[in-house]
Amino acid sequence: MCGIVGYVGPNDTVEALLSGLRRLEYRGYDSAGVAVIDEAGNIGVRKRAGKLVRLEELLEVSPLTAQGTGIGHTRWATHGGPTDENAHPHLGDDGKLALIHNGIVENFAELRAEVEAAGITLIGETDTEVVAALLGLEVARVGDLETAFRTVVARLHGTFTLLAMHRDEPGKVVAARHHSPLVVGLGEGENFLGSDVAAFVSSTRRAVAVDEDNIAIITPDEVRITDFAGTPVEFAEYEVEWDADAADKGGWSSFMAKEINEQPDSVANTVRGRISGDAVEIPELTALGAERLTNVDRIIIIACGTASYAGMIGAYAIEQWARIPVEVQLSHEFRYRDPVLTDRTMVISVSQSGETMDTLMAVKYAVEQGVTTVSVCNTQSATIPRESDAAVYTHAGPEVAVASTKAFTAQITALYLIGLHLGRVRGTLSAETQADAVRQFETLPEKLREAVDTHTQIAQLAHWMADTRSVLFLGRHVGYPAALEGALKLKEIAYIHAEGFAAGELKHGPIALIDHGQPVFVLVPSPRTSPLMHSKVVSNIQEIRARGARVIAIVEKGDTAVLPYADDVIRLPLADALFEPLLQVIPLQWFALELSTVKGLDVDQPRNLAKSVTVE
Ligand code: F6R
Repeated sequence: MCGIVGYVGPNDTVEALLSGLRRLEYRGYDSAGVAVIDEAGNIGVRKRAGKLVRLEELLEVSPLTAQGTGIGHTRWATHGGPTDENAHPHLGDDGKLALIHNGIVENFAELRAEVEAAGITLIGETDTEVVAALLGLEVARVGDLETAFRTVVARLHGTFTLLAMHRDEPGKVVAARHHSPLVVGLGEGENFLGSDVAAFVSSTRRAVAVDEDNIAIITPDEVRITDFAGTPVEFAEYEVEWDADAADKGGWSSFMAKEINEQPDSVANTVRGRISGDAVEIPELTALGAERLTNVDRIIIIACGTASYAGMIGAYAIEQWARIPVEVQLSHEFRYRDPVLTDRTMVISVSQSGETMDTLMAVKYAVEQGVTTVSVCNTQSATIPRESDAAVYTHAGPEVAVASTKAFTAQITALYLIGLHLGRVRGTLSAETQADAVRQFETLPEKLREAVDTHTQIAQLAHWMADTRSVLFLGRHVGYPAALEGALKLKEIAYIHAEGFAAGELKHGPIALIDHGQPVFVLVPSPRTSPLMHSKVVSNIQEIRARGARVIAIVEKGDTAVLPYADDVIRLPLADALFEPLLQVIPLQWFALELSTVKGLDVDQPRNLAKSVTVE
């Protein structure tokens, strides 16, 4: 959840840290801080509650000059509120060392008692302050940072990425990871640490993913990785695919606006290289072996939030094409329900970040049970794809806005490709169906562009609805998860009550919510491809309209059946039934963005949230 960055090298240390934090702020923005070894050889710290800009203001009035060693942190509060005291870095060894932390130390109460018994007075409420104090005591005892750090991390329970530096060992930052992300950036005469590659991608694209329960030690000229016992570990570097510009706003009013707009490309990039002739072929699945895929008799998709809605949509397609029963479970529920798993079960995780702790733990559980695990992920070399048997990457590029948009449509795309690959290998798909699906993918970017162009119409609608306090969303079949996603977007960034329902469920309770003027978005299936569902949804519209609802119908072009009952109609290009939600969700994303904007809220960094939820 928190963003962490470490730097050793000859360049402006504070700027290197701030540049990393600016790109990592999406991970948490309750408070931010930096620590450096200053010109006098002392640890200098500046930290502030609030967004990174508050820290930048502080550094303007109270600058820090540094000698080339520093750590920085942007926080999403777990232990202790978002105050100046609780902001990281924390100091230990009488101010001689600084430490930052991402995660939760579960045995912190017992460790707190220990450091207090050693005569140390703690001023804040965080687990991190306790660890800094403990590390300080250990350094004082053993005399060097690395040895002390190894001893301390081995005593911690919970989840953590920790970075520490000591004024007596300038030019060195040590880092450890346990169930929390950590990557090293390899520069020329400088090296970096980050919770993800965004921390250093503007300086270097050479990266090393640090494995679980390892420690990285960086100096300007050297990177070493060991296990917690100190045994050296071999590592391989990789080239980061994203460039620094991809994570810039590029003239858009918000990252979210930019990312909504990018969907024609991100979907096309996710499909690229996975179509051969008239069929889908995903090399990463081929590598698993045909027998392993034909043997699968059940799929469980695990994910959280938006990714779980992508999973729900993907489930319809995989069942239809590969004829394998698919269920979707929230990762945090899956793990604790004692799921029935056999060697014929495939678990597909869906995660933009590849670091969501709930999903990671569920994947680890699945791996322990010996089932085949496939990861649909947007972040190269993240922990979840590395833990899985196969990774099918979505190539959506970095998603910075906290509310997920382009990752969602790319996830659906990847799941559809998986469904088509499985269907082909298992012989459940005719050549004609495969070719039809391939045609859909080929024409999709253009249709997505048209869906993106609904922006002006939606902006006007949101403007009129600025005082709306509750919005409902209805859909059927694949339109149902898309309705859930529309509601989630609105809750997240416009902070209003929003709910998505399966349209057929309306009469079983939710219709009682309909009152005069209640806005309801209805995702209307195509009358060409789904005439039966279409007529049912038109009846649903009549039912809610009769009770005073304000109906905003999202229809395919040429559908006139809804016109007499809809207050507003948003028209989308024609697509096959399974492909409709990819288009329908885009006006819903715009609606959330525009309503958030008219309410004067922060579109990219909504309150209480963080992009990457790396605590359970
Ligand atoms: C909503 C949103 C979240 C994430 C969820 C999973 O806009 O972004 O609901 O979808 O936290 O995150 P990932 O996909 O990184 O596992």
